[in-house]
Amino acid sequence: MATSKALPLLFLLGLLSLASSPTTAASEFDFFYLSLMWPGAYCSSSFWSKCCRPTTGKPALDFFVQALETYNSITDEPVTKCSTQCRFSVNALRDLIDDLYAYWTNVSCPSNNGRQQWERVWCTYGTCSGFNQTYYFQRALALRAKVDLLCILKNNGIVPSSTKSYTLEDIQNAFIPTLGFSTVVECNQKWWFGDYQLYKIHICVSSDAKSIISCPIQKSSNCGSKVKFLPFDPNALPISNLADLMIKMPAAIDIDV
Ligand SMILES: *[C@@H]1O[C@H](CO)[C@@H](O)[C@H](O)[C@H]1NC(C)=O
Ligand SMILES: *[C@@H]1O[C@H](CO)[C@@H](O)[C@H](O)[C@H]1NC(C)=O
Repeated sequence: MATSKALPLLFLLGLLSLASSPTTAASEFDFFYLSLMWPGAYCSSSFWSKCCRPTTGKPALDFFVQALETYNSITDEPVTKCSTQCRFSVNALRDLIDDLYAYWTNVSCPSNNGRQQWERVWCTYGTCSGFNQTYYFQRALALRAKVDLLCILKNNGIVPSSTKSYTLEDIQNAFIPTLGFSTVVECNQKWWFGDYQLYKIHICVSSDAKSIISCPIQKSSNCGSKVKFLPFDPNALPISNLADLMIKMPAAIDIDV
């Protein structure tokens, strides 16, 4: 008697566990894009200088971390804002602070300490990662150091220059031996008609943030066939002053691609 009652129950439990087996739903995060930005292109995306020295000091001459973005591989859409009451604590980042000031800084004017940017990234993507705040920032910084884009480009003869252009193909091919099909190259332009400038590299990363993976969906680049890799000089960043505040007005019609 007892067993004949138990059987349908077991069957039902089996169905339930099948339904919740790990096929990704279209709304869940299952990989990251690590977005790295080249400040040389960011600072040259308008006719007036839009960059200032952060209040925390001179940043590194390197790619900056923008975010470790939580994505869904079915929709190829970001999964964002997973906590309605997002809590951000700078204190949780104290062991990483020097790296954050160097590689995850905000060079926008007016000069600022980057905190607002970190908080926005944490509340938008970090809260969807399943990581605690310290670990989220630590993994993003570690991945940036591991891929070392500047070094890969240099080894392939692609170095910052205000005059030289490189082909998009050469830039993409430079990454293939070390990163395979894990990168998406994004460009910006100074106004609509300017040269294409190497602006961001997006790198696909496993959901545990430990390894670089081939991108689940191949996104095409928005760059033209010729791309500039503009210089960036951290020493030349002005500390924001009255002059910056006075050019704030035209900055309102600034075009970000
Ligand atoms: C960078 O700092 C500027 C100036 O304080 C601010 O307007 C901007 O939103 C910041 N960028 C990000 C991504 O938070
Ligand atoms: C954050 O997560 C990491 C990795 O899971 C863990 O080692 C660490 O103890 C956690 N830290 C806190 C403050 O919970």
